[in-house]
Amino acid sequence: MAEITQKPTKITYEDGIPTIDLTSITSLDHLPNSNYEITDSNLTKLISEVGEACEKWGLFRVVNHGVPLEILENAREFFALPKDEKMKVKRNESYPMGYSDETWKQIFEYSVNESIVTKQGSNVFQVVNQWPQYPAELRESAQEYARGVVKLGIKLLEVIALSLGLSANRLTEFHKDTSLAVRLHQYAPCPDPERVLGPGTHTDTGCVTVLAQDDIGGLELQRRSDSEWIALKPVPGALTINLGDIVQVWSNDKYHSVVHRVRPNAKKERLSIASLFGPAYYVNVKPLEELINEENCAKYREYNWGKFRASRMKNYDNKQSIERQDISHFRINGN
Ligand code: OGA
Ligand code: NI
Repeated sequence: MAEITQKPTKITYEDGIPTIDLTSITSLDHLPNSNYEITDSNLTKLISEVGEACEKWGLFRVVNHGVPLEILENAREFFALPKDEKMKVKRNESYPMGYSDETWKQIFEYSVNESIVTKQGSNVFQVVNQWPQYPAELRESAQEYARGVVKLGIKLLEVIALSLGLSANRLTEFHKDTSLAVRLHQYAPCPDPERVLGPGTHTDTGCVTVLAQDDIGGLELQRRSDSEWIALKPVPGALTINLGDIVQVWSNDKYHSVVHRVRPNAKKERLSIASLFGPAYYVNVKPLEELINEENCAKYREYNWGKFRASRMKNYDNKQSIERQDISHFRINGN
């Protein structure tokens, strides 16, 4: 995530961005595995709406998603606590989950698993969640939220696979050994949002990001057709789905990750919750074989997701503007 100064730009509040109703899949655990097995015309419509949104915007909103949003209120209560209370769950190298404070935003991060053991070379790390004492409800609402987001994310990957003419489980098969981290952000108000060092222009590196936000707004995306910046209006109860770089590579550029940024509010704090869905770290990412042929050659070389992610996190933590890995590094010349 780049830390660059945002230049003053004209912002369009036009909002042709789709809001997709997920009623036809909320009660399902999984989708039918192929388009041929689908008999519900609402589901066929939903799949084509998602496909269109992925091609045109790389972003869409969903309603009737079945994910409980009580966490938003508990997160607000947590961020309102005195600093020393929040610092009791401060994250550090040994405890990468928990609270951190930056000049322009506060973060609280947790994982859907209470404890994850990961291996890097011969080193074994255990990542455990840290939960604050107050508000007491946060732990439960956060875990409920994370479980809901995982269910939703899996179904969205199934919908995306079906929209590409693949079997529903084609993309979820990469997620068997993955674990989801959820990041709560509270952005401080900024009287001059044009100048703030904020989450600058970036794309998300995973597959899809599920984003919940309060009613303040501030998320902006760059429209693909004319590179114009569009401010996304928050819809109460909706979640925003951002397509990440991996879906762009898997689909060999049929779908695109969305270029986005956050503009802080001049007067009010803003709350958002980002959950980045990525595959297991050992997965190598490349255009899917079914989607390439002689007329449509692979546009990217294969890369390892874990290594890519590690290089981005290192860069993010060091706050340096050294060259970051970017999927354009894997683009095959001329394709
Ligand atoms: C992110 C991001 C947007 C937001 O975390 O990658 O783009 O609204 N967040 O917080
Ligand atoms: Ni992002």
